[in-house]
Order: sequence, then structure tokens, then C-alpha cells
Amino acid sequence: KKSDVLVIGSNMIDLMTYIKRMPVAGETVEADDFSMGFGGKGANQAVAAARLGSQVSFISMVGNDSFGEQQLANFKAANIDVSGVGVGHKNSGAAPIFVDPTADNRILIVKGANSELTPAVLDEHLDMIQNTKLIVLQQEIPLETNYHAIDLANRYGVPVLLNPAPANKQLDMEHVRRVDFFSPNETELATLTGLPTESMDEISRAAQRLVDMGVKNVLVTIGSRGVLWVSATTSRLIDAVKVDAVDTTGAGDSFIGSFAHYYAQGETVPKALRHANEYAAVTVTRRGTQKSYPTAKEVAAMYQPS
Ligand code: RIB
Ligand code: NA
Repeated sequence: KKSDVLVIGSNMIDLMTYIKRMPVAGETVEADDFSMGFGGKGANQAVAAARLGSQVSFISMVGNDSFGEQQLANFKAANIDVSGVGVGHKNSGAAPIFVDPTADNRILIVKGANSELTPAVLDEHLDMIQNTKLIVLQQEIPLETNYHAIDLANRYGVPVLLNPAPANKQLDMEHVRRVDFFSPNETELATLTGLPTESMDEISRAAQRLVDMGVKNVLVTIGSRGVLWVSATTSRLIDAVKVDAVDTTGAGDSFIGSFAHYYAQGETVPKALRHANEYAAVTVTRRGTQKSYPTAKEVAAMYQPS
């Protein structure tokens, strides 16, 4: 059977700590609050699409520990097809995250079993790769695995969205040219192009540079300013929804996962982008990563249909 969205990527246990300020070396500082949650950019994107009602398949590696079991249970509870989720030899991926009073975050990732998601694992799931409307990739697994995913997707004629997070200078632009959607944030865009991305003009020039190199659709997420869509024929800013943010952790992933859902449902790119902005806006008003992602019903209650 055909899925709407296939996510190939990471899962992590998020260790969310809400702080007033970071300690300096040798210092102990009391923090306001702590909670554990399910995270990892791949899993977050998969869960966002699934909460909205997409049929989601996930290819991922959980750790050989109790966190791994909890991750699996969490994916099942989200109605995600876990037949592509394996158990690695290493510990589960984990992410200590520090959120400050301005809602900004600092994230450390320990990949653990996510580094065991090798290209060979994909060959065990060719069926899943062929039978989906859209493949979604991020960069918390080996780059070679993403390259292999892009090669296979091209062979089968399946569209790919690559979210190059976290940024990696080694990313091979030859493969980036072969995805349909490439969605960096402004920092990742700067890392990849070597160009400044402070102002809107700079961001748009850097995105244009990627389009000139052959990238089909560049979707630059610019936080509270929205998303800039640049292609050979378009350059368009889709404004973000204004909200009071308390925790922006995983907001980018909720944007990618919800865009994938809306796009797979057949919405046009600008419409899917607008709906993804709306979705991400809700998540920043709540603490936590996946636990802050709304369902289709909650979204419908919050926004007028359009
Ligand atoms: O993008 C947010 C995510 O980054 C967190 O869930 C954390 O696990 C890291 O992967
Ligand atoms: Na949130």
C-alpha cells in the first residue's frame, strides 16, 4: 500500500531544560523546569504529518535500550508504520536541550543508534521507498544514507524534500540538485552558500544562488518572518503567523512535517506553505517538541478554512 509521506531519519530522546541562563565552566545554576520528550528531527517530522492525518511510514534506528522501546511505542501511538524502524546496537539518540526565557534554544545531539541507519538499511525497504507520494530527509543520519535515498527516489520517480538540518558543509550539491524541495533555515543557507543571510535581500540572493545551481524549489524558513520560496520562476515570501512564542524547539520540524502532509494531500506549494506556517505557529506557543504538535482537529478549530 502507498503511504502519503515516507520519512527517513532520526529519533532522539529530548531532555528539555528550561533555564534562566547557561552556567559558565565550573558553575552550578538552578533551572526552572525539566521534562523528557520524544524528539529527533526525523521523528518530529513524521509525527507532525501523522497528527494531521497522513499515512506516514518511517525508516529509522532506535537504540538497544528502554528509550528505544519507548520510541517504538510512541510511533505506534501516532499511527506511524514502523515496519522500517530497526533496533541498533548502540544506545538511543539523545538531545540535551536548553530553552531560555526568550524561547530560544540550544541543542546538543548525541546520534547513538541513528548513526547505524546506513545506506544498506534502505535496500531492505525498497518497497516503502517506491510506494509513497513524498520522501522527507534531514541530516541526523549519515549523509551517504541520504544520498542513497535520493538515488533510489530518482530511480523510482518519487519526489524528495531535503531539510539540511543540522547544517553540514560536506553536503554534496550534486545530490541537492536532484531533490524537489530543499528547505534550509537562514543559518543553514549561509553555511551552504558561504553568503550572508542577515537581511531579506541577502537571504533571497543566497536562495537564488542555489536555484542557479539547479535546485528546483528552495524553501528558506526564516522563523517569525515566515518562509521564502524561490524557484526558477518564483520568489515569494509567505508570512508567518504572529504568536507569542514560549518554546521554539522543533518548530522547524513541525513546519517540514506539516508541509509534507499538505503537499501530499495535493495542495499547491504556496497553500501548503501557508498551512505549514499556521501549524508551526501553534507549536511555538506550547512547551516541548512532539508534545506541542497539534492534531488536524485542533488546527481546524484554530484557523478559518482557506
Ligand atoms: O529540531 C529539534 C530537534 O533537534 C529536537 O527534537 C532534538 O532531538 C534534535 O534532533
Ligand atoms: Na513547542
